[in-house]
Amino acid sequence: MARRPILAANWKMQKTVPEALAFAADFLPRVKDAQADVVLAPPATALHALGQALAGSNVALAAQNVNPEAKGAFTGEISPDMLVDVGCGYGIVGHSERRTLYGETDEFVAAKAAALFARDIVPIVCVGESLEQREAGQTLSFVGGQIAGSLARIPSERAAEVVVAYEPIWAIGTGKTATPEMAQEVHAAIRGRLGELFGADGEAIRIQYGGSVKPENVVELMAQADIDGALVGGASLEPESFAAIALFDR
Ligand code: PGA
Repeated sequence: MARRPILAANWKMQKTVPEALAFAADFLPRVKDAQADVVLAPPATALHALGQALAGSNVALAAQNVNPEAKGAFTGEISPDMLVDVGCGYGIVGHSERRTLYGETDEFVAAKAAALFARDIVPIVCVGESLEQREAGQTLSFVGGQIAGSLARIPSERAAEVVVAYEPIWAIGTGKTATPEMAQEVHAAIRGRLGELFGADGEAIRIQYGGSVKPENVVELMAQADIDGALVGGASLEPESFAAIALFDR
């Protein structure tokens, strides 16, 4: 099945509003003919301004996090409606930094993904093993469990729309990319698990690879059968570099 590639920038806790706007001014003309879905996830403070800068362009806006509750006494949190308000088309949930630094569980991630879908925002659901788990031979069973747990509340009629990001923790921000073959092995296992959960829709779900993706390695990663995109941290911070990734097929 032909799946449309999706390349997403995760800026994490980087870029002020002026920096985000300067990025957009440089980046948008570079990628106006991109044949893939291109997504920028700025910090929450820049969502509104960047959303306005992206309006009418071929680049979509994403949040890096969301709270599953609709409203209430949740100091510091941001609701799905607030993300609709600023024009988010996507929301990253379950990034390994949130799982490890802030104790987010599969159950919490599943609630976030369902809450985003309820507001017509597409969740990008992140999974990935630690170095210890890989060395113990637990990668496929651990990631398979994360997939089942984190997607447990996806409405089955919307399953084909969800985006999964496989990000081995040991490859994030370390310069150590999984080899394309290592990544493909896990992507194929994830595809199998998605088929068990969602039947034929599992073939339509796009699976991004993340972890030290850069212009130099994106082409060989994207050539793998079950790699449908990338979630990019460090190499997404400069317009030229992320544009080269978004235009990987040129
Ligand atoms: P990296 O981050 O590209 O800097 O490794 C990827 C991510 O954490 O999404």
